[in-house]
Amino acid sequence: MTINSPLCSRRALVTGSSSGIGAAIASRLVQDGWEVTGWSRRGTAPTGVQAVAVDLCDDQSYQEALQELRSQAPWHLLIHAAGQAAIQPMLLLSDAAWEQQWQLNLRAACRLVRDFPRLMPRLPSSAESNQGEVMTNSPRPMIVLFSTVAVPLVLAGETPYAVMKAATEQLTLQAAKELAPMGIAVNCLAPGPVDTPLWRTVPATAQQQVMERLDPSTLTTPEELYQQIQSWYQDHRTGSIAYSRASR
Ligand SMILES: NC(=O)c1ccc[n+]([C@@H]2O[C@H](COP(=O)([O-])OP(=O)(O)OC[C@H]3O[C@@H](n4cnc5c(N)ncnc54)[C@H](OP(=O)(O)O)[C@@H]3O)[C@@H](O)[C@H]2O)c1
Repeated sequence: MTINSPLCSRRALVTGSSSGIGAAIASRLVQDGWEVTGWSRRGTAPTGVQAVAVDLCDDQSYQEALQELRSQAPWHLLIHAAGQAAIQPMLLLSDAAWEQQWQLNLRAACRLVRDFPRLMPRLPSSAESNQGEVMTNSPRPMIVLFSTVAVPLVLAGETPYAVMKAATEQLTLQAAKELAPMGIAVNCLAPGPVDTPLWRTVPATAQQQVMERLDPSTLTTPEELYQQIQSWYQDHRTGSIAYSRASR
């Protein structure tokens, strides 16, 4: 069974649909026959995606967008790709810089993991979730979060970004455990560099620091990430964290 099998679910929300990985994955889902809604502040998305302007750091904007989703439930897939990197020495970080990283890179994921399952179909599950365990019943609704290889690589200058993403990995494991009885899978992509606007904002010296640590030292593509999502969906896997080209 593939992600676009007739047996599979059909309605997906992609956050970060206006750019980079989120835009690419939203587009691929549309190609594969999914009904896709895309969230971003700009409110733009590739052709075929219903684009909605949402600021995930703004409480009212988030609640209004969530309410709109409720009227279209059930939702079968959440790809939470919205995120932002920050490169700054730890000793120079302001409270505002920490707050911004918390709000977008962790709080938004925490809220979506709490709220989105209520919009998903409830499926009976006999499977208990452990890391990487295969869930036995199908089809399964799924949530995909994003971490980064900056977590295992422990890169200087990326402290708040890596801290929030490390917590997102733990959030994935916790949510996979707690949502297993509802038949909802939760997995996390942790890519190496992907050629997007986010990667292009990383200073050259910091980019070099990353590339020296990766094997092979090539960029990850959005298509590889999509293939990983397909594979999880096909295998009903939950509680997985997929690092691209990282040495831990
Ligand atoms: N690119 C890489 O090398 C790389 C590597 C590892 C992990 N990642 C992770 O992959 C994910 C996607 O990154 P990307 O490279 O595709 O980044 P990107 O091209 O910069 O896209 C980021 C997306 O997040 C949205 N966004 C930012 N702030 C938002 C907010 N407050 N509310 C709603 N949407 C918001 C942006 O849309 P608006 O500006 O329109 O709001 C944009 O669509 C991120 O979680 C990132 O940490 C990326």
